[in-house]
Amino acid sequence: MSKEYKIATLPGDGTGPEVTTEAVKVLDAAAAKHGFKLSYENFDFGGDRYLRTGEVLPENAAEELSAFDSILLGAIGHPDVKPGILEKGILLRLRFELDQYINLRPVKLFPGVWTPLKDKGPEHIDYVVVRENTGDVYAGAGGVTMKGTPQEVAVQTGVYNRFQVDRCLKFAFEYTRKRNKRNTLALCGKTNVLTYLYDLWERAFHEMGDKDYSEIQRDYYHVDATCMWMVKNPEWFDVIVTGNMFGDIITDLGAITQGGMGIAAGGNINPEGVSMFEPIGGSAPKYTGQGVINPLAAICAGQMMLEILGEEAAAKDIERSVMDVTANRLKGLSAGAMGFSTSEVGDLVASGL
Ligand code: IPM
Ligand code: MN
Repeated sequence: MSKEYKIATLPGDGTGPEVTTEAVKVLDAAAAKHGFKLSYENFDFGGDRYLRTGEVLPENAAEELSAFDSILLGAIGHPDVKPGILEKGILLRLRFELDQYINLRPVKLFPGVWTPLKDKGPEHIDYVVVRENTGDVYAGAGGVTMKGTPQEVAVQTGVYNRFQVDRCLKFAFEYTRKRNKRNTLALCGKTNVLTYLYDLWERAFHEMGDKDYSEIQRDYYHVDATCMWMVKNPEWFDVIVTGNMFGDIITDLGAITQGGMGIAAGGNINPEGVSMFEPIGGSAPKYTGQGVINPLAAICAGQMMLEILGEEAAAKDIERSVMDVTANRLKGLSAGAMGFSTSEVGDLVASGL
């Protein structure tokens, strides 16, 4: 009997449903070819549901979602909902409650894709950022006093414990070993200013490296310098590991160097539990329903999902087909500038498998 995976789909807001449809189309084509099955159950979490019911996320959502093998997310964000409510109430809450402690973000320039980096091509831009996904200033520690007065004080503290740091580093070392490309793991920190937080990261990094991963070369860069080198010498990087806030920032920089939000995907991973994959662009409300949004980022999120589920051959196959489409078919990656509609791009990738 062929293996069957239960996938929860959360198409979400704006163009989320359109791109999720294309991801599912490609996933199904890959499953048929590679001899496994995918079944889907849809959840309507997002801005429309919130505006209709007043509830951002049902109390038992994480529990319900833990029964699935994986989660595929479209986009969260609604023009009529104040920024922060849906992001915190859905995306961040699911990351925390499902303990998806890794945010994995490949930065890979596909052939035929324009990059703003001068004189750089696919041979230079191919690395992965392992962003810690539960701690740091995202932990919610802090508060405000005297709000609205001239003396208002706001505090928001970066929080890490050794356990969080160690499990993230372990994932990063293992990933670097498995990837087996340049066998180099770079810690991105700020040891010259965040002398508590990144001192913890740096000691844990070297202790673990010395003990269990002596064949992996270790580099260290401050976060500001990381940004410079991601622009000037992206070919230096193989795998970068960093905390939540720096990871958020540098992965947007990485995304734009690989062609932007039309192509960049990420995975919120709980290696021992249920993971959630997403295109990292937003819900693009102004393009909703026009069939012009680029589905490749959602398709690549689906590809990452298969890789983490262990269907590596199928994942590779999707990547190959996407590369063929970017190299030989699309005029560009931006919404409305692809030379094809959203569903035509999905068809191209699916039929290329
Ligand atoms: C991301 C996003 C989120 C984050 C927001 C929407 C909360 O920017 O996935 O990178 O900061 O993690
Ligand atoms: Mn971000």
